[in-house]
Amino acid sequence: MAKKTVAAASLAAQAMGWIDPVTRAVVPPIHMASTYLRDEDNAYRSGRIYARADNPTFDQVEATLAALEAGARAMVFSSGMSAATACFLAFAPGDHVVASKVMYWSLRNWLAGFARQWGLKVEFVDADRADAIAAAVKPGATKLVWLETPANPTWCIADIAAAAEIAHKAGALLAIDSTVATPVLTRPIELGADLVMHSATKYLNGHSDIIAGALVTARDDQHWAKLRAIRSQLGTVMGQTEAWLLMRGMRTLFPRVAWASRSALSLAEKFAVHPMVAEVLYPGLPSFPGHAVAKTQMKGGFGGMLSVRVKGGERAAIATAARVELWKRATSLGGVESLIEHRASVEGPGTPCPPDLLRLSVGVEETGDLFDDLDQALKRAHNA
Ligand SMILES: Cc1ncc(COP(=O)(O)O)c(C=O)c1O
Repeated sequence: MAKKTVAAASLAAQAMGWIDPVTRAVVPPIHMASTYLRDEDNAYRSGRIYARADNPTFDQVEATLAALEAGARAMVFSSGMSAATACFLAFAPGDHVVASKVMYWSLRNWLAGFARQWGLKVEFVDADRADAIAAAVKPGATKLVWLETPANPTWCIADIAAAAEIAHKAGALLAIDSTVATPVLTRPIELGADLVMHSATKYLNGHSDIIAGALVTARDDQHWAKLRAIRSQLGTVMGQTEAWLLMRGMRTLFPRVAWASRSALSLAEKFAVHPMVAEVLYPGLPSFPGHAVAKTQMKGGFGGMLSVRVKGGERAAIATAARVELWKRATSLGGVESLIEHRASVEGPGTPCPPDLLRLSVGVEETGDLFDDLDQALKRAHNA
């Protein structure tokens, strides 16, 4: 009888159902070796030479992530930043790339600083407008279109299928930073993307205890080989222990993301009518400008990230963050514990982030507890 194909959630829970062939353990060991024995005839039949290029502890996590993203291959990196920058370093000085204006601030700074100094022609666009992407792309010259959706910290939505069509028509690749959506909600490769990037520090791991990154490719081709060489040459390889922890975290990805998405939607609806809140930014709200596109490319929820703009401006926003007790005042996102952050303070001068914005990463606590805590903080800040 043909084997029944199982849902992505089942694949994740069992980490592809792999069993250690030597011990029959349902959880694989961590391979600590940095080097591998050469055969007597001078060959390397195991396919492994040195652990800066590869490590067997990556196999299960990379296979699982490739399956969840419907990709051909996945590759884990030392951080989200090393995975993202590899995508740009695969091109040459003089090449043109298009990237969203609203995106993870540290990558935007790297593109505006290092990448331009190195010679890449970087053009930033309003990625929530497909016509703006089309206007920026130069047929034959643009090598890469880089989009983050939903994008930090205003959660604007880029239309992945439309961007793929525009990029491919011009001969460019499309890469999506899908850290916030995760493969639970969006599978960019099925919508036409060539590469998917994750800060695996966030939802994929989910427990705020490792720094990690990943790329997934639609095709195991020459470009992918180039990206593999960059990881090996720059040494931006993931640690073995981190790979093992990431695999453990990914087993609970689906229930964590489903819970956080439900909770975030409920909080967005409640804070949208809160007297001390000027605006809630969340793709799941019908009033949100990107809602219609989000509905078509996010399945089963709109994610655990939202932002609230506090009445009273920057002072009131910082005062609110100072008064939370259950939410943790910290940067990052996608962990089981809920985090709150005055984002403009982190991003500094030149940020497109409004000064009255508090970024919320919703974890897996009770939604009512999260509402009550932020509600009391907003009221106390208002009366201070
Ligand atoms: C959307 C997004 N992309 C990329 C990164 C960079 O990832 P890392 O911190 O793992 O290097 C982050 C980190 O906050 C992020 O939020």
